[in-house]
Amino acid sequence: MIRFEHVDKHYPTGRAALTDFNLSLGVGELAFLTGPSGAGKSTALKLLGLLERPTRGRIIVGGIDLSQVGAREIPAYRRRIGMVFQDHRLLNDRSVWDNVALPLLVAGSLRGELDKRVRAALDTVGLLGHEQKLPLEMSAGEQQRVGIARALVTKPDVVIADEPTGNLDPTLALDVMRLFQSFSQVGVTVLVASHDLHLIERIGARRIALDAGRVAGEPA
Ligand SMILES: Nc1ncnc2c1ncn2[C@@H]1O[C@H](COP(=O)(O)OP(=O)(O)OP(=O)(O)O)[C@@H](O)[C@H]1O
Ligand SMILES: [Mg+2]
Repeated sequence: MIRFEHVDKHYPTGRAALTDFNLSLGVGELAFLTGPSGAGKSTALKLLGLLERPTRGRIIVGGIDLSQVGAREIPAYRRRIGMVFQDHRLLNDRSVWDNVALPLLVAGSLRGELDKRVRAALDTVGLLGHEQKLPLEMSAGEQQRVGIARALVTKPDVVIADEPTGNLDPTLALDVMRLFQSFSQVGVTVLVASHDLHLIERIGARRIALDAGRVAGEPA
């Protein structure tokens, strides 16, 4: 489902963020990217979300060579990729419903379809009934789950998450990781960048260790 082939990424400033990065994830696979700060984890996810372009090499997602996706096709591509961030990036002056509906509104979904999809996404993350709350009326864990519902609402084939549990206490963090695990169990391919080795061990999923932009191995 996801393949990086000999990918290099050099930002205009600074040293190489990724060097000869290779990775292959099957449909419905869950994997974690780990490694020290600056190892290139966020860069790999940004390349998948087309927030950045590689300097060299090829990235294939669901059979699509990302180098062939032009600027105008990026919004449609991104609807197939659910993105979750550490700081969840919710709109604080909008309700939970509005926040989760946003990707569908942007896509021009029909009104009747909207409410059904928003409620289904909230149900998946255990927040049905919270539609009219504002994000700031919710706990950190709930806010993060709203961010996950927003990433799911377009029914993506792939979910990528950058330190999604960075702001959560261990119990909530485990809940969120289990949620990602459940997505992979229904066929969504999930790639998560995380520092939390203890948590990854508890989930028991594949782990790819990065160091200074290179794959340092796949510790068991
Ligand atoms: N926009 C940018 N411009 C220039 N250099 C960047 C940019 N983003 C990242 N880098 C550099 O690329 C390298 C990899 O950064 P990246 O953010 O991918 O690391 P990371 O593994 O996600 O680290 P962290 O654990 O701190 O989030 C670092 O040396 C970083 O300074
Ligand atoms: Mg990062």
